[in-house]
Amino acid sequence: MLNAGEAGQRIEALRQQIRQHSHRYYSLDDPSITDHEYDQLFKELTELERDYPQYYSDSSPTQRVGSKLSGALTEVRHAVPMLSLNNVFNEHDAREFDRRIREATDVDSVEYMVEPKIDGLAISLVYEYRKLVQGATRGDGEMGEDVTRNVRTIRSVPLELPQETGLTLLEVRGEVFMGRSGFNQLNQRLIREAAEREQQKKDQALRKKKNNLKNQDKAHGDEDDECKLEVQVRDTDNIATDSQQQSASNKRVTYMNPRNAAAGSLRQLDPQITSDRPLDAMFYSIARCEGIELPNSQSSQIALLKQLGFKTSPDSSVASGIDECLRSHQSLLENRDQMDYDIDGVVYKVNSIADQEKLGFITRAPRWAAAHKFPAQERKTTIEGIDVQIGRTGAVSPVARLAPVEVAGAVISNATLHNEDEIKRLDARIGDTVIIRRAGDVIPQVVQVVLDKRPEGSLPYEFPKTCPVCGSQIVRDEGAAVSRCTGKLICSAQLKQSISHFVSRGAMDVEGLGPAVVSELVDQKLVSNVADIFQLRADQLESLERMGEKSTHNLLTAIESSKVATLPKFLVALGIPHVGESMAIILSDSFPSLTELMEKDEVELSSIRGIGPIVAKSIAEFFSEQRNRETVDALIDCGIQFERPQLSSSGDNRVSGKKFVLTGTLSDMSRPQAKARLEKFGASVVSSVSNNTDYVVIGNSPGSKLDKARKLNIPVLDEEKFKALLNEADSDGILQD
Ligand code: IVH
Repeated sequence: MLNAGEAGQRIEALRQQIRQHSHRYYSLDDPSITDHEYDQLFKELTELERDYPQYYSDSSPTQRVGSKLSGALTEVRHAVPMLSLNNVFNEHDAREFDRRIREATDVDSVEYMVEPKIDGLAISLVYEYRKLVQGATRGDGEMGEDVTRNVRTIRSVPLELPQETGLTLLEVRGEVFMGRSGFNQLNQRLIREAAEREQQKKDQALRKKKNNLKNQDKAHGDEDDECKLEVQVRDTDNIATDSQQQSASNKRVTYMNPRNAAAGSLRQLDPQITSDRPLDAMFYSIARCEGIELPNSQSSQIALLKQLGFKTSPDSSVASGIDECLRSHQSLLENRDQMDYDIDGVVYKVNSIADQEKLGFITRAPRWAAAHKFPAQERKTTIEGIDVQIGRTGAVSPVARLAPVEVAGAVISNATLHNEDEIKRLDARIGDTVIIRRAGDVIPQVVQVVLDKRPEGSLPYEFPKTCPVCGSQIVRDEGAAVSRCTGKLICSAQLKQSISHFVSRGAMDVEGLGPAVVSELVDQKLVSNVADIFQLRADQLESLERMGEKSTHNLLTAIESSKVATLPKFLVALGIPHVGESMAIILSDSFPSLTELMEKDEVELSSIRGIGPIVAKSIAEFFSEQRNRETVDALIDCGIQFERPQLSSSGDNRVSGKKFVLTGTLSDMSRPQAKARLEKFGASVVSSVSNNTDYVVIGNSPGSKLDKARKLNIPVLDEEKFKALLNEADSDGILQD
């Protein structure tokens, strides 16, 4: 047992350790202890603070989440107004901006700091005697809202600054934002929670109704009408379900984009809610400072912020002259989709603070800075039609056909509407004006209908009850989001998709057999299952609209050479649900032959490392279907052979135990393949570059990870070197395909 003095010392030591570790984890993305070790420290501190309440401090890492606020957020006046930036939209304007600066400062080439313009919301934090005392939103620039209690819940925001500085006052400015992955998870969670609430309401209403009816019956002494009662309850239940689902789906429960989500999360009255939201913050300027001399450039002030424990953008850089600025703009624009947070442009700032002071401000924006904007990620357009597409497994995906519009540099004319619920939730109708968003992922999304612009007399979209291709019924399983066409073999859309998948690049890789040819082959009834491809004759192919003598010859050669396959590719080609490239590699490594794999049941499959119960079930089900076994037999009869990779053995090589980061596109293997191989040799693949990374592997158009690797002096491997390393590790022949 510690005495009070010792406890006090231990508490202080733990707080400092935890602060340092959180900084490394949340701000630098470079943890030096495991999550478990961190949790242990946190637990020890929580217990000591509980046992020795005299050492309470509101800047302890345990005190991030406070209690709920009653009433509204209060307004606060900014001691230094929060200004905005002037925008430039093209190279010409950027050069004009630079020309004005060169003229005013009388230099030939200006040094700039180039920073990503994070698409979040501006925040100002005040620290007095090293402690965070206020966090405020920008508001109108003069007055903002006090969000101190919510800002405190953001793990990367320091509650207390390090001891060694003589700082008495510091006000910093930055941006609160939500990462894209966090945003997607949050929206999923909000949809789930809304559905649960609806369900609870429904259950409650049902219980009440049951009780009422029971009481009525009791009152009438009518005991044998139990059966009628059940029927009545079910009827009312159905009606309630439909109308409630309608009302639930019309209510917007999700956020439109990460910026709205960040704003909504930061302005909550209950800090517990903010704390459960994946918010983050990065800082880019110092508005006030007392007690220490500030460095004389923007870049060194950012370095100071970092040293004080603030998260700063890893993607900022110093550029000499506008040409370098424009190059950074281009490079960030190209990497925008790979970053986990939205940026809507790049900010150029004159690096010298003396020059900044010389240049001053015009109205509400500094003359020494400009935001060079990117093309917008959200645009408005109209829905001209809604079609459904039928996938390989019959999944019905509604697609909005749009009036073409350019979004973030690409012309978009289709956007997925996901499923029936999503259409209901959006209440998307033909003729509607909608906001389309394209960010990070390539699939453009419809985020919202602009109701003000809805044409009169429009009707809600009716989800089809039968497949538009084969006429079979469309069904939706209880609790499932996806609707499916029940046509299976008779649905030519499903057949076309299965064949296209079978011949695709990651599968049997038959060059020259694109979707258009596949579609014609199916329509002409030349192919009715995947094995038929191997029976095609030249005269049949030549009869097709798009095929000539030469293309027929090439296609037949490609079909023939695809017969020599690898087991993983063959397994992918079969289209077993949940079996992608990396799972196929695990399977082919775990079984000496295809026949053996086909004989295993669910239990045997799930006992293998890397195969979970869902995948095991799916594989066992697939091979237990007679039709699938026949297809496999037919394929083997056609002469398909594949080399079986040998079983793995060693763990001792230059790769084992190492941390790899992959960036860019490799030409010979996909990322999941590269990852699976590395993992096979005992290496791990992580998503971001830190001091702990051993190698960064670069393919075509690598992202900012390459720059970071160079900065941190981490060995960089191009595809050739990477393959050489894999071969070396494979000296005992783990992977022979
Ligand atoms: S500097 C006086 N730097 O953009 C300088 N702003 O349009 C004011 N923003 O309200 C801001 N990233 O919310 C600056 N690296 C960055 C920024 C940035 C995002 C936002 C900020 C500001 C708005 C101005």
